[in-house]
Amino acid sequence: VSNERASGELLLIGHTGQVGGALLKLLARQPLGFSIRALAHRAGVYWFREAVHPAEVKLDELLPGSAWLDRRGIDFLTLDAATARLAAVARAAVIVDCTASADIPRRYPKWLTAGIGVVTPNKIGFAGAQADFELLQRLALRHGAPLEHEGTVGAALPVLNTVADQLRAGAPLTTIEATLSGTLGYVLDQLQQGVRFSSAVERARDAGYTEPDPWVDLSGEDVARKLLILARVGGHALEPTALTRKPLAVPGLPAVDGLAPHFSDHDGPLQAAAERAARRGERLAYVARYMDGRALVGLESLPLDHPLVQAKGPDNVIVLSSEIYPDQPLVIRGPGAGVNATASAVHADLHRASLKLAARCPGVRSVAA
Ligand SMILES: NC(=O)c1ccc[n+]([C@@H]2O[C@H](COP(=O)([O-])OP(=O)(O)OC[C@H]3O[C@@H](n4cnc5c(N)ncnc54)[C@H](OP(=O)(O)O)[C@@H]3O)[C@@H](O)[C@H]2O)c1
Repeated sequence: VSNERASGELLLIGHTGQVGGALLKLLARQPLGFSIRALAHRAGVYWFREAVHPAEVKLDELLPGSAWLDRRGIDFLTLDAATARLAAVARAAVIVDCTASADIPRRYPKWLTAGIGVVTPNKIGFAGAQADFELLQRLALRHGAPLEHEGTVGAALPVLNTVADQLRAGAPLTTIEATLSGTLGYVLDQLQQGVRFSSAVERARDAGYTEPDPWVDLSGEDVARKLLILARVGGHALEPTALTRKPLAVPGLPAVDGLAPHFSDHDGPLQAAAERAARRGERLAYVARYMDGRALVGLESLPLDHPLVQAKGPDNVIVLSSEIYPDQPLVIRGPGAGVNATASAVHADLHRASLKLAARCPGVRSVAA
């Protein structure tokens, strides 16, 4: 545990979730100069009257009436009350959104305007209208509030910051060709090894690769969001309506028994698609493409020597061209999903945020200072 005295305060939304829980463990080891001011989930916010070192947070004790909470001194607040208080008490603060909620990102503009940083692996706030994406960048700049979301594309792979660095050097992306879903990579890999589609989806969920709602992966929505984010960070205005999405599988109507739609409804057709590809000596991949303002995501059958089918399991392959890489594209490849990888991307984003806060507030120390 670092001895560094904390100087920035965090409000973490989603401490009960997979990524939020894993992030707390990383922060306990290396707090990056941050202490925990508040922890939030759907039921509300635990507000610590004195900010707590991350290593001292006892997740098992976060129950109303627990002796630890009583000793600590906490208030239960709504999210809006807690963020208003955060803006009032902290000189340097960051809200970490580890949810997959659409509700939370609507508040980012308000937080950035109050000078509060936003760090998140949640794609939703960056994949809506282009104007909303641009507004966030403008507000972050105008109010000196860090805004970091590397984990939204490729989990901990070095994608967005690499692309943003190229854009700053005057080289927008010219083409994107990629597999961007750890879940779909894993599921298609299993399918092509003879595993039933429905079992592969369950395995992906057990391994922590899927979105909280796996249909967001299977419908291609998650990949579509990532392609929008990647193209935008790469310098292109792109509206969701300009993107063509061909789902791998859609939920359809609830089953007659009233239960949620079954993954197994898609076992037969997808097994047939895998067999057709194998007969041609090809492999299936769920591909994201961007070129000349046109974006599309969908299932493709590709020759075995194609870079996008060189990866196995949850790996992503991201092939990027720009003026800096005109002949040989930049290829980024590796695990594009996973709870620990995503938490480490958020942790790295918090490090970048701490550097920006330290630059904004003289006297606020970051670990790197
Ligand atoms: N897993 C991966 O490989 C991966 C990769 C890249 C990005 N991500 C992103 O990481 C984020 C978290 O994923 P996860 O797998 O950790 O999800 P998760 O396990 O389902 O956790 C979600 C957390 O968010 C909280 N939450 C949900 N809606 C909320 C709301 N409206 N207000 C306050 N809290 C709310 C939940 O709290 P309660 O349920 O206790 O109320 C829970 O703590 C998502 O945006 C996902 O897209 C994940």
